[in-house]
Amino acid sequence: MDRKMQNQKTITGSLVFAVCTAVLCSLQFGYGIGVINAPQKIIESHYARVLDLRMPEPNVNGTEEEPVPSAVTMYWSLSVSVFSLGGMVSSFFVGWIADKLGRIKAMMVVNILAVIGALLMGLAPLGQAHALVIAGRLITGLYCGLASGLVPIYVGEISPTALRGALGTMHQLAIVTGILISQIIGLEFILGSKDLWPVLLGISGVPAILQTILLFFCPESPRFLYIKRGEEEAAKKNLKRLRGEYYDTTKDIEEMKKEKEEAASEKKVSILQLFKSPNYRQPLIVSLVLHISQQFSGINGIFYYSTSIFTKSGISQPVYATIGVGAVNTIATVVSVFLVERAGRRSLYLIGLAGMCICAIVMTIALALLPQHAWMSYLSMVAIFLFVVFFEVGPGPIPWFIVAELFSQGPRPAAMAVSGCCNWTCNFIIGMCFQYIADACGPYVFIIFAVLLFGFTVFTYFKVPETKGKSFEQISAEFRKNKMATRKGLKSTEMEYLGTSTDA
Ligand code: GLC
Repeated sequence: MDRKMQNQKTITGSLVFAVCTAVLCSLQFGYGIGVINAPQKIIESHYARVLDLRMPEPNVNGTEEEPVPSAVTMYWSLSVSVFSLGGMVSSFFVGWIADKLGRIKAMMVVNILAVIGALLMGLAPLGQAHALVIAGRLITGLYCGLASGLVPIYVGEISPTALRGALGTMHQLAIVTGILISQIIGLEFILGSKDLWPVLLGISGVPAILQTILLFFCPESPRFLYIKRGEEEAAKKNLKRLRGEYYDTTKDIEEMKKEKEEAASEKKVSILQLFKSPNYRQPLIVSLVLHISQQFSGINGIFYYSTSIFTKSGISQPVYATIGVGAVNTIATVVSVFLVERAGRRSLYLIGLAGMCICAIVMTIALALLPQHAWMSYLSMVAIFLFVVFFEVGPGPIPWFIVAELFSQGPRPAAMAVSGCCNWTCNFIIGMCFQYIADACGPYVFIIFAVLLFGFTVFTYFKVPETKGKSFEQISAEFRKNKMATRKGLKSTEMEYLGTSTDA
């Protein structure tokens, strides 16, 4: 390895500290996704008491004879779904807040939402519990929508080129860790009990407070300081903090200078301009399709409804199987952190989508044949576990950080906002519709996802460029060249054939 590359791959204490502090946001995001699963029955009973309604007696056979009162079901569905609704709305403002306050201050300020949301949920039993939980989930969702954009922007900007993928995957790693923690402490004998569920929901405020304190010690993004604020000295100082005292900042500053000049000639890019300008069309389409494919892969069908899927597959301890999914999910993401700088984003994305497609087909066959062959339940379980593994190989982590790679400093915040909003909207649609589709299609529900996954694989093959090891400048230059090549009628498949050096 030459010295330049070694320099690029140097991990300093302050870089690790800054990334770990930033992803505390992502941890809360994951916690918010997973926490609502396990204590459903207990919280529903609490709602029923507040609303003066009678819940059906628990049945020893596990089968419910009486239906849950419809008002309780409605308030419960709202408690689940307002979270992604909040994310949908707030993710649109990511660019604005990130540029207005800077990356660090923005993360600090949005923590106020996390604390308010946590307080509302934690104190829910003191008032109209259903209303307070719904309000708390909405505000937590607003927080997570902003966090899911701010973290990848900040981490992408402070990471050395050679480690951008690995460090970008830390966002997803923190999300899946948050999901796993919530699944474990949500067990009835830990915090998912009749008395402790408010603590389970309210505890999410703790990482927000911790992060606010730690952020005081994190360096602001040098790219933000140089390109947006014109503060060259401060940018150099922070680069040295992140890369090491003796780091030569010349090359980075040169690259930022080029990007700044380019941004100045483009003027500030609003969301509307992002859609209108033909320069951004290609990267925008790639970004949106990657986010759509992440959600419409059906992953959250598993995360929101795994317990009921496992019950239907004849697994005897569905709650523990769900925790198993969370654990496999986390391990696979750890593997992905190491893979992403070796194999590259494009190939991992392709392998991930194609693998998920095959697993979805196997799952369908196993579920369809279950009535005839009891052992099919094991096959379906293996297929579900592998589905999750393939997701974390590529479709889980990559969309979150690749958007920051596909756009230069000017349009980056707007692009992050639009893609984040697209992700949350698709997440909301899956959350709302999956159960209905599953009821209507029975064992064939995953066939729909298999077809979609196949389509996304084809799209990725033809349209998604490799960004590994390339500077932001090189990536946007490739999109420009590719656009010209397409105009001239040349065949456009991979963009690598346009051959720019990867030695950033
Ligand atoms: C990604 C998705 C999120 C999903 C999670 C599962 O972060 O954005 O919706 O729940 O992966 O690991």
